[in-house]
Amino acid sequence: MTGSSRPRLDHCNRSPIRATEGWHDKIKPVASTTPSITPALSAKAPGATAEASTARLQDIAAAVGTPCYVYDADLIRNAYATLDQAFEGYPHAIHYALKANSTLAVVRLLQSLGAHADANSPGEVEVATRCGFRYDQIIFTGVGKSAAEIDRAVSLGLLAINVESPGELDRIDQRAVAQGTVARVALRVNPDIDAQSHPHISTGLKSNKFGVPIDEAPALFREMASRKGLNPVGAHVHIGSQITTLDPLRRAAEAVVALAHSLRGEGINLQHLDMGGGLGISYDGGAVVNPADYVRALVAATRGSGLKIAIEPGRVLVGPAGVLLTTVVDVKQFPGAKRFVVVDAGMTELMRPALYNAFHRIDPLIPRAGASGLVDVVGPICESTDSYARDRQLAPVEVGDLLAVRDIGAYGAVMAHTYLRRPLSPEVMIEGGDWRVIRRRQTLDELLSLEEA
Ligand code: LLP
Repeated sequence: MTGSSRPRLDHCNRSPIRATEGWHDKIKPVASTTPSITPALSAKAPGATAEASTARLQDIAAAVGTPCYVYDADLIRNAYATLDQAFEGYPHAIHYALKANSTLAVVRLLQSLGAHADANSPGEVEVATRCGFRYDQIIFTGVGKSAAEIDRAVSLGLLAINVESPGELDRIDQRAVAQGTVARVALRVNPDIDAQSHPHISTGLKSNKFGVPIDEAPALFREMASRKGLNPVGAHVHIGSQITTLDPLRRAAEAVVALAHSLRGEGINLQHLDMGGGLGISYDGGAVVNPADYVRALVAATRGSGLKIAIEPGRVLVGPAGVLLTTVVDVKQFPGAKRFVVVDAGMTELMRPALYNAFHRIDPLIPRAGASGLVDVVGPICESTDSYARDRQLAPVEVGDLLAVRDIGAYGAVMAHTYLRRPLSPEVMIEGGDWRVIRRRQTLDELLSLEEA
């Protein structure tokens, strides 16, 4: 995970911009917004911005080809500022969940804003450190940590290793003792709360594999406190992702606050409560929790304890900031049945529709005149699940037209794969009036370079 001798990418080779010391990071105030759509990237944004934005996206597609992912740095900045400012000075740290989008330039941007990091694998720890995060700004989570991963995490002195089970508690202690050190740990509790999200991304029920049942937590904290190699610094809860109502998030927060109170009664004093991530965004224009309301609810639940709050947001910071540009490669009509718009991006570039039946808005970049009609927007992959939208109203399109698939900044490029030997697509960052390629398109030679015939 050190990689110090390995070549580094240019944009992460600059001297790290230090996050503000301490938990409460101060950044310049900006207008508080609910980042539910992609205004700066949207062809429907008002006035000149829309035209400029459309022209820029066309330029990008012409320069780097499609499919390509495009992110707007200003939207990420605004989303971060909205969360950060809503704490209103209450001690906190926003640990960006790298799993949502760990492209170096995206992570680097969040680091420069004062975020801390939530890493789920040695690879993500490496990305975080290459992007300037100190080890004591990184939380390491993961439901199944290998012996090597534990060893490494312990040796780095991370802010906290989130402990998933009694067995893992043991293994971390053993490795810490063997290394002659003390590992900071937080116990991940499973509060048996239904996040009311998609079952594939719900994690807070006792039928899910995550954490330890909350009623077993006090005994495990006592155990951790008694171990030579462990310093229990926090409690962690994460009940799922794309959560669109406040109630489950508030109840999870209240549960860990109550736990912290009872531990204090036993002389176990935690330093932080890690409330996880999970805040949803509006993919379809429907109501979601306002991010500032979410933060205020966490602060209200926690204030009495005086404990620092850690959160691990991913989607809400980067999701609305991204569009996937794709080109129509075919339009076909089955007589008396479906009309298919076939595009050059598919489940290889964006897994979410195939995996969760997820909804993403799709618009032609430049709408043509004429009535919209019902179509399926499908990818080029040889699987029927390779479909971005079924029975969707779409303005008329022709082969060669560009489409924008919205809100793909989170869990888009990170979940891409190379099925059918399709190389990974490029990523572009728009920053102010400018844009730059932050990951170029993979070549076939690179894709095949691990293999021998
Ligand atoms: N913390 C932990 C421990 C997590 O497991 C996750 C996400 C997060 C934080 C960040 O959650 P967020 O704020 O982004 O909701 N691939 C799925 C989402 C999987 C989320 C996994 N864990 C999707 O495309 O919707």
